[in-house]
Amino acid sequence: MTPQDGRAQPFVVLGVSAGIAAFKAVEVCRRLVDAGIHVAPVLTDRATRFVGKATFDALGSEPAQMSLWDEASPIPHTRLGQRADLIVVVPATADLLARYANGLADDLLTTTLVATAAPVVVCPAMHTEMWEHASVQDNLAVLRSRGVTVVPPAEGRLAGGDVGTGRMAEPSVIVATVLELLGRAGAEGHTGGGDGGDGLATGDLVGVRVVVSAGGTREPIDPVRFITNRSSGKQGHALAEAALRRGADVVLVTTTDRAVSDGVTVDRVDSAAEMEAAMFARSQTADVVIMAAAVADFRPKAAWDSKLHKVDGVPELLLEATPDILSELGRRRRKGQVLAGFAAETEQVSERAVAKLAAKGVDLMVANDVSAAGVGFDHDTNEVTIFGADGSVNGVPLRTKDAVADAILDRVCALLSAP
Ligand code: C5P
Repeated sequence: MTPQDGRAQPFVVLGVSAGIAAFKAVEVCRRLVDAGIHVAPVLTDRATRFVGKATFDALGSEPAQMSLWDEASPIPHTRLGQRADLIVVVPATADLLARYANGLADDLLTTTLVATAAPVVVCPAMHTEMWEHASVQDNLAVLRSRGVTVVPPAEGRLAGGDVGTGRMAEPSVIVATVLELLGRAGAEGHTGGGDGGDGLATGDLVGVRVVVSAGGTREPIDPVRFITNRSSGKQGHALAEAALRRGADVVLVTTTDRAVSDGVTVDRVDSAAEMEAAMFARSQTADVVIMAAAVADFRPKAAWDSKLHKVDGVPELLLEATPDILSELGRRRRKGQVLAGFAAETEQVSERAVAKLAAKGVDLMVANDVSAAGVGFDHDTNEVTIFGADGSVNGVPLRTKDAVADAILDRVCALLSAP
């Protein structure tokens, strides 16, 4: 998307409603400005109970606005709504979502939302009970059906010390989503972005938006210790690079610090919760999603805030299951989106891969026997079988991970061009 009126700098209205996560809106504001976006902050009255207007005055591209009545212009909402290339609401409370879904327009933020034709992104944040309430989910369904992008909350620590789903997505994920929708993916410092006219975009994935996850997640025990697995991220990175070579717009969500080619947009994440948030945000606009990451199946129920010491005795570590990201991606996938997962197994490889294919609702499941020589974790080679939801079975003999990546993308291309 190019800014309206041919303006070089996209104009983004940053709406802030009254939740504790409003403090993260400050970081979103700063990052968007750093990425070259003109940010016009609009705060609800009650948002200022959580974070001051002066902070947004200082960090935004123009003074923050709160009222329909105190600007020189008598109609600030239409000025903002018409000028906006995008509006992002950080955080979006249950109340804000309800008012927006019902077209209530009783303050500057809601009138601006109703007075715009620009894309809107909402970032809900609330307690788990509120998040799960039917009214909230219904309002979100209404907003989604109108084209609003929802950056879903993650699981984590909530206000008051509770733990559950409802914690707003991290600023990096929100900013990445906004830049993606503005067609500016990679405008943030650490990312690449686009083909830059360098002639890479010549293959059979030109114009296709591919999201790949890679690496093993790290689940914190305390600030210095974590649970992880043997995944090196090599196969996921090889997939991202192969997709780039074939002309795709590639986003790589990775737990590793491996070097990545310019042109791949990178989200660096650590835990399953961070990977979940990034994958949900990134997959909303993707044509192809490939979960090559080895997501931890279990994580400590609660991490200690400070380092554990042996003089205090052996801690009792309670584990809980992590969310199954791939299954959820399967449930919420866009029409026509191709979804692929990996099954790393040591026995009954085919049976388990096919069972997972069905259970997770994916198009392709790439199975590898990680007990075989030269295969899977940390090797530069891999040998896989690609199972399709259409019943197809493709064996790929032992090859470099780059060649395996191309074999997987061949199957993806076939699905993309299927009627
Ligand atoms: O069930 P299993 O872990 O074997 O499934 C592997 C596939 O599911 C991989 O594609 C992996 O990325 C994905 N997965 C996930 N979330 C989890 C566990 C696995 O997305 N919590």
